[in-house]
Amino acid sequence: MRVAVTGAGGRLGRALVGALAEAPFTGLAGPIAWTRPDYDLDDVEAPSRLILRDRPEVVVHSAAWTDVDGATRDSALADRRNTAATRALAAACAGSGVDLIYVSTNEVFDGRRTDGRGYRPDDPTGPINAYGRSKLGGEAAARESFDRGKATTAIVRTAWLYGPPGDDFPTKIIAAALRARAAGEPLKVVGDEYGSPTSTADVAEAVTELIGSGAVGGTVHYVNLGAVSRADWAREVLRLAGVGVEIEEVPAATWARPSTPPRWGVLEASPLPSGEPMRPWTEALADYAPILRRAASATGVGTGTGGPV
Ligand SMILES: NC(=O)c1ccc[n+]([C@@H]2O[C@H](COP(=O)([O-])OP(=O)(O)OC[C@H]3O[C@@H](n4cnc5c(N)ncnc54)[C@H](OP(=O)(O)O)[C@@H]3O)[C@@H](O)[C@H]2O)c1
Repeated sequence: MRVAVTGAGGRLGRALVGALAEAPFTGLAGPIAWTRPDYDLDDVEAPSRLILRDRPEVVVHSAAWTDVDGATRDSALADRRNTAATRALAAACAGSGVDLIYVSTNEVFDGRRTDGRGYRPDDPTGPINAYGRSKLGGEAAARESFDRGKATTAIVRTAWLYGPPGDDFPTKIIAAALRARAAGEPLKVVGDEYGSPTSTADVAEAVTELIGSGAVGGTVHYVNLGAVSRADWAREVLRLAGVGVEIEEVPAATWARPSTPPRWGVLEASPLPSGEPMRPWTEALADYAPILRRAASATGVGTGTGGPV
């Protein structure tokens, strides 16, 4: 099966390419990696051109303008890159009978939920920032095209992604913790924002299983199981990395930033096509521990297990 991945050089994109390369159904050639400059969100002609050139049967659309604060500063650009570019891709896919998997986000929900449950795929959406609105626009564009086409589309929402090559929340919090410890200060971490930390490798495996099942369709939430605050996520990261530092929980409002993330950004994890559940977030993060320990030692500030975490 010929499967193309947009944004193939991004954090999730490279995990998708890796998982699809291992899947027997992609054959010896493996997946088709669409990256810039060939695939550019600003070029509405690119999808038709690439579909004609590479003849995929499924496209996984992982590319997006993921700068959440940038999207608030320039919402028109966010709409062009996350909504209009998805519309162009979806139309080209639907017109050629190519299935589309659109990667979306927990930020399509308002985060005002207070019953402690994660958002389900059919819960009402209501983004509170420009990035979430632009991604929700992409969802609508994908569904609309396929209402009229001969292929299908699936929306895969995920959240709080981390994974190689790093430069993610876990590796940034390790660097911040080491700086705070060197300065003899507590590490300030937001305590009132909740989410579902999710391994890119696990999402990539889930998407690969979805494609292999031949049941592409509907809306699913591929996140690792569980809900946790940023501060508790940081505690677990630092424990696994062996970095001891005092954590001071602060409200999200402590840092003024252009965009507001959903306070309760937790998604209820959908089962995999096999019926198996996604793994708990703590289990998935434990697999990332070697990279976390490397991130802790790479800074040169030193690590240790002493002190409160
Ligand atoms: N990160 C999260 O926590 C999170 C949570 C929920 C959903 N998502 C969704 O997951 C998907 C992957 O995100 P990620 O975390 O892997 O982010 P990422 O590392 O920023 O990857 C985004 C990808 O999009 C590409 N891209 C950006 N602007 C582009 C443009 N103008 N033309 C073509 N390609 C462009 C990037 O290409 P370059 O490498 O060339 O820059 C990169 O490969 C996105 O759809 C995002 O909305 C992410």
